[in-house]
Amino acid sequence: MRTMRIIQPVKEMQAFCDHLRKAGKTISLVPTMGYLHEGHLKLMREGKKRGDCLVVSIYVNPTQFSAGEDFEKYPRDIERDSGMAESVGVDVIFCPASSDMYPEHYQTFVNVEEATQNLCGLSRPGHFRGVATVCCKLFNIVKPHVAIFGKKDFQQLAVIRRMVEDLNMDVEILGMPTVREADGLAMSSRNAYLQEKEREAALILSCSLLQAKKLYDDGQRDTAGILKVVTDSLESSLLVRLEYAKICDVVTLKEVTHLGGAAVLALAVRVGATRLIDNYVFGETFDVPC
Ligand code: PAJ
Repeated sequence: MRTMRIIQPVKEMQAFCDHLRKAGKTISLVPTMGYLHEGHLKLMREGKKRGDCLVVSIYVNPTQFSAGEDFEKYPRDIERDSGMAESVGVDVIFCPASSDMYPEHYQTFVNVEEATQNLCGLSRPGHFRGVATVCCKLFNIVKPHVAIFGKKDFQQLAVIRRMVEDLNMDVEILGMPTVREADGLAMSSRNAYLQEKEREAALILSCSLLQAKKLYDDGQRDTAGILKVVTDSLESSLLVRLEYAKICDVVTLKEVTHLGGAAVLALAVRVGATRLIDNYVFGETFDVPC
């Protein structure tokens, strides 16, 4: 019977992965902050196919939260997460302590300059610096051949791709489609914060994306026209506060005025106190019941 390992010390994780590499095994990594859901499990199932050994990191990374954000209250349940991870065949859970990841005198950070300027980078200063830094550290510790991320966090994926290319990191980055609840809401650990009425109101995100898709399919290429419909729709709900709705180039994440090349509609809202994001890449399939 195979058993899943749980490794906490950074040095032990490093030694374990060195050993695997020397034995000629391929390593896949799925970085997470835990409180797992089906979206995470989808990445893991792919990771299972992509490597001989699947490592899942579970670490609520303090450097990607700003003061006043939900670091303390971010949901954590390692028992539940371990059971879910084991059920999809995860080989190793890596759950380091912050004292090991960021010991005293820690002072090195990775800053991806342009892809972090727009969208969530505006409202969450320092967030992507923390994400890029922890992913760089995880890549150095686990030394994966492939690392798997979700397209739900579109900007995060773009930032990681940029970092890997710019710093010549020897790891393949794979992006996986967003997994949704049956009613269309993108799965997120933060959905656990939503009250019943807020949960209903949150459907406006996926429904607005669908409206944009329909306009695009009908031949609309002027982004201002699409954004007008989307913002009107998002602002129609009393429980929803719009942070941004923007149409950007998928690589640079700079705004575009005309839909010619590959572009993404990215949304961020607050529903009550909960911040939610979602996105739609024009031209892709998008199937939600609105
Ligand atoms: P977390 O929010 O736990 O997400 C872990 C991974 O799961 C990310 O790649 C994210 O994009 C993906 N994911 C989340 N919800 C998804 C969904 N509904 N469908 C598909 N994939 C989904 O993102 C982070 O953690 C952190 O920033 C991390 C990269 C681990 C660095 O700390």
